[in-house]
Parts: sequence; structure tokens; C-alpha cells
Amino acid sequence: MKLAVVGTGYVGLVTGVCLADTGNDVHCVDIDRAKLEKLKRGESTIFEPGLADLLAYNLAAKRLTFTDDIAAAVRHADVIFVAVGTPPSDDGSADLSQVEATCRAIAQHAPGPRIVVTKSTVPVGTGAWAEKLMAGLSKHKLTVLSNPEFLKEGSAVDDFQRPDRIVIGSEDPAASAVMKELYEPFVRNKRPILIVRRAASEMIKYAANCYLATRISFINQMAELCGRTSVDIDEVRVGIGYDERIGFQFLYPGIGYGGSCFPKDIPAMIAVGREAGVEMSILDAVHKLNQRLPTILLEDAKSYFKGSLSGRTFAVWGVAFKPRTDDIREAPAIKIIDGLLAAGATVRVHDPKALPHARAKYGSRIQCLDDGYAALDRADGLFICTEWNEFRSPDFARIRSSLKQPVIFDGRNVFSGELMRRHNFDYYSIGRPPILRA
Ligand SMILES: NC(=O)c1ccc[n+]([C@@H]2O[C@H](COP(=O)([O-])OP(=O)(O)OC[C@H]3O[C@@H](n4cnc5c(N)ncnc54)[C@H](O)[C@@H]3O)[C@@H](O)[C@H]2O)c1
Repeated sequence: MKLAVVGTGYVGLVTGVCLADTGNDVHCVDIDRAKLEKLKRGESTIFEPGLADLLAYNLAAKRLTFTDDIAAAVRHADVIFVAVGTPPSDDGSADLSQVEATCRAIAQHAPGPRIVVTKSTVPVGTGAWAEKLMAGLSKHKLTVLSNPEFLKEGSAVDDFQRPDRIVIGSEDPAASAVMKELYEPFVRNKRPILIVRRAASEMIKYAANCYLATRISFINQMAELCGRTSVDIDEVRVGIGYDERIGFQFLYPGIGYGGSCFPKDIPAMIAVGREAGVEMSILDAVHKLNQRLPTILLEDAKSYFKGSLSGRTFAVWGVAFKPRTDDIREAPAIKIIDGLLAAGATVRVHDPKALPHARAKYGSRIQCLDDGYAALDRADGLFICTEWNEFRSPDFARIRSSLKQPVIFDGRNVFSGELMRRHNFDYYSIGRPPILRA
């Protein structure tokens, strides 16, 4: 099939590359020329397992074109995916200006009927609005479908190629059939393609993200309570996780969720509720708790250092909002780093993949080190903000001898208390009693 994907960011790039890999001829459009130049050379603009190889393979097979020429892409494609950003506005609602600009361009350049698919996360009613907008600008039938993306950063390619389910929101059976054909190669494992009403599809994406953020926040709030009542959250987590109605997924306490989705989608859903006259009080609480969580670990550090972090030096391991991605958007580590800087501390950061983004964000205000142990040299303590696999079994003797005092503030509960006792560290984690040397 001839396809276009507008927006070659996280979702657009993965979508374009994976759809090219099943034999489609895909034009990927962006306005960011620097990004396009890199992609044309076959260099991935994001770190995502498996993506670089697929990109190179499909570029070589000439099934992928990267361009800023949206007019040509719209002429080329029967189906156009919209995968531009939907960042938060000042009031928390989704800013649809990138979606609107894309729809206007599609309507302006479409030489005949086209299927336009919103992959961007957009509020309920956006599909209907976009279809109406384009109908006023084009004489051709431009059918808008919703096809939310559920990929997880860190396993985006795998998630796209082996989705739990595909959701298509459509009011047009013929367009639905085209989408089913396009996605058939990805559901050979018999996962469902769910065809629902367009508005329901838009709601499904927000509902999924809001539910997951709520679940994470529930265990995080339980952890906060455990921390205050000398209960170990791990024992509680295991005790409830074996309940088949609850399960263990997304039940790991930490310093909060981050990334480009949950932090903006929760306020956007609250805004949708506001407009519809429904107070989304659960989500309000989720959002507020998540903003506050990193400060708990900073407070632990302050009390450990007798009220002040000024003049001290800290190593921070992990800036990415989660492992196996280089994405630092809204990462809890940012709040930790900002908090340390604001308290007058010096910050040395290490991350296996995200250092270029950390450098771009902070410049000379922090030191970015490729070697995690070098970041520890004569530092006052270590913060762990991302649960990268390689942080799980480090050389504890080296950490001890590098730090001025052996203290770890673990925002991801990477280590067990027993391990920390054995290696003789002072250790603060989330929802577990601190371990302090005698
Ligand atoms: N990142 C994720 O994990 C994820 C997962 C599911 C859904 N989503 C949703 O997908 C959408 C995109 O997210 P993302 O993380 O890929 O964003 P992103 O910021 O990484 O990418 C957006 C891209 O769109 C480009 N762009 C902006 N305006 C444009 C225009 N007028 N024409 C062409 N290109 C334009 C930008 O240059 C950028 O490259 C958002 O709505 C997001 O909520 C993201």
C-alpha cells in the first residue's frame, strides 16, 4: 500500500519503519530538517531496540522516503497517518495546532479521496472536528479514522509488530477494511483488531493511559504510606499482586511516571472532563501525587545531610524516564536534578543512552559522564532514578570506595535491603524503611 506518515518523532518513525517492513511504500514527513537528514542517512533519531536495523534495511529496500514535502507525500499516499505531537496547553488540554496544520495541508494537497488516520493521542471529538475542517477545504472525500498507538518506549518496535490489540475508530466500513488489510500482518498471533466508533477509539487511548497512571500512582501512594508506618511496600506488593484480580504488572513503586505521554495525557483527560462537566477527581489526585513524588527522596537526602545539600556533590544514575529509551521528557530524574541544583549541590549524571539529551538540556550546569563510576568520585551520595539493567549488579566495593560516605537514594527500588546491609550502605528507597549503618 502507498502510505504517508506525518510527524517522524517517536510514534511516527516507528510506525513508518514497521509499516515499510511489511512491504508498504512509506513517505515519512517532518518539518524538522535536521531530523530528516539524519534519517535519510539511515541514522535513527531515537534509541529504541531493533529500530536502527529495520530503518537501514527498509531504506536500502527503497520502501522508506524521508521528506519535508507534505504535498508530494499526500499525492503519493492512499492512507495518511497523522503522528505529530499533541503537547499540553497552559490549561492542561491537548494543543491540537500540529494536528490542525497537518489536516489543513492534507486538504490543500489531496488530489483525490484519502483516508486520514490519527495516530496522535487526541481528545474525544477530534476526528469529527478534523473531518469537518478538511471537508470545508477540499472537494475530495477525506475520511478520518482514529488508530491510537499503544507502543511502550523501550520496546516500541516489538509492541508495534506484536500488539496486544489494534484499535480502529471508524464511521466508514470501506476505510475500516483498508485498515484491517494493512494491519493483518501484525495480528497473525490472533490478537484482535477492534473496530469501534471513532470517538470511542479516541477515548480508549486516554482511558488506557489514565488507568495505567492511576495504577502506578496507587502503589506509589501505598509506598508513601508504608514509608511512614514502617511497613515494607515490597511485602505489601507481593501480598496483593498474587490476587489474580490485581496481578503484578505496573505495581512497582518508584519516584513516579514520566515520558511524553502520561504526564500530558492525564491533564488532557482532566480538561476533557472539565469541558463535559465531569470532575475527574481521581486523575487530579494522580497528577498531583506524581508531581510531588520525587521531592520525597530529596527530603530523605536533606534529612540525612542534617537539613542542607548545599555545597555537596551527588551522582545521579539514570536520566531517561525509563530503561531502554533515551527519552528524558518529563523524567522524574529531571525533578531530582533540578531539586539538587536548587539546593546548591553539584550534580554528576550518568545514563547509558540519554546523556546527549541531558547535555542539551543542562549544558554546563551539570557534568555528564559516560562512566557511572567516574560520576561517583568523591561524591557525597548516589541517586538512582532509572532502573537500567546494568545498575542492578554494580561493583558495590567500588561504589563504596568512590563515595565520601556510602549512601544511596534509590528512586526505583533497584536493590534489596538485605543486599544493602550486606554491602554496608546507608540506603533510602521508596516505601521501605531506610537502612542505616550502626
Ligand atoms: N511517545 C510515545 O511513547 C507515544 C505513544 C503513544 C502515543 N503517542 C502520541 O503520539 C503523538 C506523537 O508523539 P511522539 O512522542 O512521537 O512526538 P514527537 O514529539 O517525538 O514527534 C512529533 C514529530 O512531529 C513533527 N511535526 C510537528 N509538526 C509537524 C507538521 N506540521 N508537519 C510534519 N511534522 C510535524 C515534529 O517535528 C516531530 O518530529 C502524540 O500525540 C503522543 O501523545 C506517543
